[in-house]
Amino acid sequence: MISQELRNKFLDFFKKKGHVIVPSSSLLPDDPSVLLTTAGMQQFKPYYTGDADPLTSIHGTLGKPLGSKNVASIQKSFRTSDINEVGDESHLTFFEMLGNFSFGGYFKKEAIEYAYEFIVKELGLKIDYVSVFGGDRDVPEDKESAEIWKSLGIKEKDIHKAGREDNFWGPTGNQGPCGPTTEIYVKGVEIWNIVFNEHFQHSNKKLEKLSIPGVDTGMGLERLAMVVQGKSTIFETDLFASLIEKINVEDVRVGRILADHLRGAVFLIADGVRPSNVEAGYILRRLLRRAIRLAKLHKLDVKLYEMLGEEVIKFYKNYYLELAEHKKEIIEVLLLEQEKFGSALERGLKEFEKMAQHKVIGGRESFYLYQSYGFPFELLEEMAREKGVNFSKEEFEKELAKHQEISRAGVEKKFGGHGLIMDTGELKAGNEQELQKVTRLHTATHLLNQALHDILGDEIEQRGSDITPERTRFDFKFNRKVAAEELKKIEEIVNKKIKEDLPITITKMKLEDALKSGARAFFKLKYPPEVNVYSIGDYSKELCGGPHVQRTGEIGRFKITKEESSSAGVRRIRAVVEP
Ligand code: ALA
Repeated sequence: MISQELRNKFLDFFKKKGHVIVPSSSLLPDDPSVLLTTAGMQQFKPYYTGDADPLTSIHGTLGKPLGSKNVASIQKSFRTSDINEVGDESHLTFFEMLGNFSFGGYFKKEAIEYAYEFIVKELGLKIDYVSVFGGDRDVPEDKESAEIWKSLGIKEKDIHKAGREDNFWGPTGNQGPCGPTTEIYVKGVEIWNIVFNEHFQHSNKKLEKLSIPGVDTGMGLERLAMVVQGKSTIFETDLFASLIEKINVEDVRVGRILADHLRGAVFLIADGVRPSNVEAGYILRRLLRRAIRLAKLHKLDVKLYEMLGEEVIKFYKNYYLELAEHKKEIIEVLLLEQEKFGSALERGLKEFEKMAQHKVIGGRESFYLYQSYGFPFELLEEMAREKGVNFSKEEFEKELAKHQEISRAGVEKKFGGHGLIMDTGELKAGNEQELQKVTRLHTATHLLNQALHDILGDEIEQRGSDITPERTRFDFKFNRKVAAEELKKIEEIVNKKIKEDLPITITKMKLEDALKSGARAFFKLKYPPEVNVYSIGDYSKELCGGPHVQRTGEIGRFKITKEESSSAGVRRIRAVVEP
């Protein structure tokens, strides 16, 4: 039975049992506390708690009420927890989850009976054993489920009991419905998880009994297909066969990783995710870059990437119409990322090889590879493992944190276009190339600020600053025009400091101490009690949120392009940096 037949069979079965079929929700959930959709129940969270009513509340994607307390769906799901395991026989990032749900319509008896009927009667499979919740300090043993299984002919010895770790599910995000589970095992594989959402877990971990007893079930299509099709791995099912065949690489593990990652990436892109350095975009980038590196390592056809994207779309587009609809963009995003990373990869690998000779890669070095060549951390970790190089996640994260401390005085990160949009009010960048330019200009602006003090005296005071990838604009309190001679001197000082290749360092300090230390602050901003002080050698010291270059040598040549009046008593300087 091929996967499409399984989907149909599942939905038909539950339709006959009075369920309304609801389409999959997006991989990007409404719930801000979770990055991606990991389970079928996520789109139904408010129905379990009574915050939404299945018969009267308008459902987001349906545009009308669910129309029943009992629904079923096939949900696109993505889990990052197993990402490093992908390549073995059963782990995946993206998968499809078949599920039936009830919000006060039915409970344990029907839920277990439906599952039994579907597995045993509809699919003709034999249940090896089941598991039920064994009870703990907060939640009692689920004796009722055990009794129901017995009534269906499952022997007592085949009803295993387990605790919180194995037989309790949820919540997704920081709070939500959750409860004891019962699981079905066929051919040694856990294929169906049936959750009884009896509780609501608050963010402080306290459980509260829900007034509506809920059912939430999930059965991975890939695993079900493996069992039904009599395969020993999910990659041999029809869901992967054509992809693996196209990849045609000797190393089985590599074939599986490429198939999983490209499939996941296509679905993420179709739901609007774009590669970036944050959140879902970072996950997408990580999938794509890992795939690109592996393809290169194994000398696979450069066209492979596009071919696999097309293959995934072809295979899934009849069921997931969004893939057909966004086909052009999906391929474009794949190719753009391949192009971006492909060229940096070669140079980055050379750098990596050099670093790897010392058998230790420190935080600064790993961050450098990440920033300059776009190597996701996990990719570095994987390469370090392969080479037996010492590599510390903490050190990398420390370095990253330093650089990511973008102004706490109001950062806005949004997705859009082809990457990260940064808008701190002061810095604006629409993608990473732009981000690099504004970063260089930003450090140059600190140098300019200090040089203005050097030449014009300490009565000058910053009044504003605005940095785009093209130029920096700096406003300061000063009563007269700055003479051409003075401008020249200022420019010379900044370029001298650039030539000295001074390091930029960051120190976290109490606001009070920072101000006492003589670090410059911009009076218009409200600072938090703890601030970052950015020092450029011992030349300049400012309270700031970054980002900055690591050494002034990266800035390039600094040039003042204009000096004018901005308003009464305020002068404005525009400047650029050239590579
Ligand atoms: N929500 C449950 C799961 O994801 C069914 O396993």
